[in-house]
Amino acid sequence: MQPKKVKVGVIGCGTICKRTYMENMVNKFNILEVVGCADLIPERSKAMADKYGIKQMTNEEIYNDPEIEVVCNLTTPESHFEVSSEAMKHGKHVYCEKMMAVDFSEATELMRLAKENNVMFITAPDTFLGAWEQSARFYIDAGIIGKPVSVHAQHTCSYRPANPIFDLSPDSFFFPLHPGGGLPFDWGGYYLHTMLNILGRITKVAGFGGNYEPNMLYTHPAHPKYKENFFVDTPTSIFAALEFESGVHGTFQLTSESYNSEHFEITGTKGTLVLGNPNNFDGSMILKRPNMKEKPRMMGAPGQGGNGAQVDRAQLGEFAMPEEMVLPMLHGFNDGSCRGVGLADMAYALRNGRKPRADAQIGYHAMEVIHGSIESQKTGKTYIMTSPFERPAPLDITIAAGISGQEAVLDD
Ligand SMILES: NC(=O)c1ccc[n+]([C@@H]2O[C@H](COP(=O)([O-])OP(=O)(O)OC[C@H]3O[C@@H](n4cnc5c(N)ncnc54)[C@H](O)[C@@H]3O)[C@@H](O)[C@H]2O)c1
Repeated sequence: MQPKKVKVGVIGCGTICKRTYMENMVNKFNILEVVGCADLIPERSKAMADKYGIKQMTNEEIYNDPEIEVVCNLTTPESHFEVSSEAMKHGKHVYCEKMMAVDFSEATELMRLAKENNVMFITAPDTFLGAWEQSARFYIDAGIIGKPVSVHAQHTCSYRPANPIFDLSPDSFFFPLHPGGGLPFDWGGYYLHTMLNILGRITKVAGFGGNYEPNMLYTHPAHPKYKENFFVDTPTSIFAALEFESGVHGTFQLTSESYNSEHFEITGTKGTLVLGNPNNFDGSMILKRPNMKEKPRMMGAPGQGGNGAQVDRAQLGEFAMPEEMVLPMLHGFNDGSCRGVGLADMAYALRNGRKPRADAQIGYHAMEVIHGSIESQKTGKTYIMTSPFERPAPLDITIAAGISGQEAVLDD
């Protein structure tokens, strides 16, 4: 029997709603039924409502609509607390885009409110439910790199008002330079959710970083505030050392004050897995392991430091050059952007009475890592993590299952 659809009200009809969420909620996930949408800028909610044949509503109408079970909060980080807390106080379950709040104290209050109002609280990013992320967890759990030893997550880039991606519209702003939107939050969430899903709870954080140049100038001549000052009120850089409960150690490095470089990999006692981009559902994973069966190869030629003899590489053991191979993807949710899969999973969790996979516990633990790094930088001491975290249930393998098969794995 088909489960009863879960009715959703969407608040925030900006970039990500337009680009992917609304289409996925209306046309991709069968379990969801979008009733209406709201935005502080009414033209935005009207455009979405007209395009998808849903109601244009106000925030208040969504909070007070008895039919709506879930509020999908796609506002900018500075509005997350206000919208999520109001929705919870009206008895609505909440799905909130990343990160859940601008700081750890707001996040703590949201966790309390969810409990007090007995509602489900889910936080993005939900990309950790995507194809490569789930396959990476499967391979690592199966021992493909032996016992995991270290993880390295690095994402550096340049966010400056002269950058072409800087928002030129007077109606909105570029949220990664506003509270709760800095790169450690904006991109940090993707790396942290993926690391937590694969490696489990983090116990200690030691960090450096901050905001190296908080006073910026609008330097893009097309910007309405050209040559005016701009204060960046969010940490833009984090360089942290992490200790996981499992004994794995990691580095977490994010800055928007540098230039582009991305690197994400987990090493283990038997190999290394180079991971994909955690902002994407599809991607590739490269396994690097010593290959004992590699063909014999000539050592250096006579006169060039060798005697020309053939060497059996198997005898070299761990000194043999590692072989690289791209691992096949085993899971679904790899067809472009599947944003909203965490919301669909929450809908099945509501219908089936189970724990949702993107439960706010993961977002809260990630928030505490960022908070812990900032605290460690202030005190000069290692921060001891306090929040609990258990890895969410993995998704079943769905090789070649197609879109419908993909959604069915959530119905567990
Ligand atoms: N832009 C992206 O590529 C992207 C990707 C993934 C996730 N996200 C996340 O999605 C969220 C939104 O990002 P965006 O890029 O769509 O931002 P945006 O500024 O383009 O859109 C946000 C919308 O929310 C509305 N809004 C703000 N406060 C509101 C309130 N109190 N009530 C009603 N409406 C309100 C704004 O008017 C705006 O239309 C953020 O949490 C961000 O981290 C964005």
